[in-house]
Amino acid sequence: MNQTLERWSSRRAFILAVTGAAVGLGNIWRFPYITGENGGAAFLLLYIAFVVLLGLPVMMAEILIGRAGRRGPMQSLGHLARQAGSSGHWRWLGLFGAFTVFCILSFYSVVSGWSIDFMVNAFSGGFVGKTGPEIGAGFDAFLADPLRMTLNHTLFLVMTMVVVAAGVSKGLERLNNLLMPLLYLLLIVLAGHAATMAGFVPALKWLFTPDFSALTPMVFIHAMGHAFFTLAVGACALMAYGAYMPDHQSLPGAAVAVAVLDVAVALLAGIAIFSVVFTQGMDPAEGPGLVFVTLPVAFADLPGGAFWLGLFFLLLLLATWTSSINLAEPMVATLQGWGLKRRSAALVVGLCVWLVGLLCVLSFSTLSDVYLIGQMTFFGLVSTIPPEVFLPLGGLLIAIFAAWVMPEQEALRALDAGPNGFRLWRAVVRWVSIPLVVVVLVSGLI
Ligand code: PFF
Repeated sequence: MNQTLERWSSRRAFILAVTGAAVGLGNIWRFPYITGENGGAAFLLLYIAFVVLLGLPVMMAEILIGRAGRRGPMQSLGHLARQAGSSGHWRWLGLFGAFTVFCILSFYSVVSGWSIDFMVNAFSGGFVGKTGPEIGAGFDAFLADPLRMTLNHTLFLVMTMVVVAAGVSKGLERLNNLLMPLLYLLLIVLAGHAATMAGFVPALKWLFTPDFSALTPMVFIHAMGHAFFTLAVGACALMAYGAYMPDHQSLPGAAVAVAVLDVAVALLAGIAIFSVVFTQGMDPAEGPGLVFVTLPVAFADLPGGAFWLGLFFLLLLLATWTSSINLAEPMVATLQGWGLKRRSAALVVGLCVWLVGLLCVLSFSTLSDVYLIGQMTFFGLVSTIPPEVFLPLGGLLIAIFAAWVMPEQEALRALDAGPNGFRLWRAVVRWVSIPLVVVVLVSGLI
């Protein structure tokens, strides 16, 4: 396949696109609940350390490959490997990435569908005046209703595939320009509101006073997986976006901006959510239902609460929309590379993800006592193994390819940070990021 000529229209557009991919369920839904399940501050610190030492350098590696190859992930990897005189088998890494995003999108679409349902319910005043236990019971009833869940999952997936079918960079740029600033504004308002609650100070204490005795090898695995997941790194999805990166833009600057914006969303969401949890005496380790129960409780008796809550779920929906478009892109790019038209590729991907998503929907009702590994339902499995094992594994291979295999001159040019910047980045990837992923993966899995 030939090189792509499509480009993001500006540096800002590129940063917004990658931020759009990064900021999503990972920040607003997954971060609070896994921080809750893993003891708070020590987990938070570990996750930030992984973002800096692993997420950021590997993100640069991933985008750099796409930028140097200027093709879909499989084709870029194959092309650059051949250029370096190395094995063309590297292209299978692109396929592994496509498989990873396939698994992730199948649960992502289901949970994003929850925000459609909750948005409609919130705007129509469905949560007004309800108590915490009533809202919790309402959430359980929702999960137990496969039809309602399937409807929302379907709606969300159609929204995603329509944009992907049209071609990513056009539609997405406009969406991001409007969406990202609005999301930050609302989160700041929410965190400000949280500051007036009785649970605000206990929440800050819990989030920022680490208890290192809580750290086990599994907590390391969760934190590492989450760093990859939240930055959208490790599945070749950002590689696909790197192919459209403009020519004159330093990659490290853009990557740091994205990471800061991404962690900021997680922290703001965490502060808002845990303030409610501590004010209401709820359990921080409540699990995947955390935001879907705490926020309606927080807004239930607030003036204009229905509107603000609806707006929050609308923004959550929009944030997950831009991420799921990014999740779908490597699969569609791969099928296109095999000769399918973009629209047909989007249709095939959409249908397959929809089907597997149904198993996630049923994991909360009909299949709720079918356990696959340990106590994991199908939903538990696809929402844990791909983010925590596949993404780090993919990230490891991406890092090895960019720092050891790819032609040095190509990598230097695509990083666009000067010779010293390049040497620093490569040293960090070679001697810090790669060994760290190996150590954490091996120690967590044995
Ligand atoms: N970063 C997204 C989030 O935090 O919701 C999820 C994600 C997108 C993961 C793209 C992986 C990916 F390739």
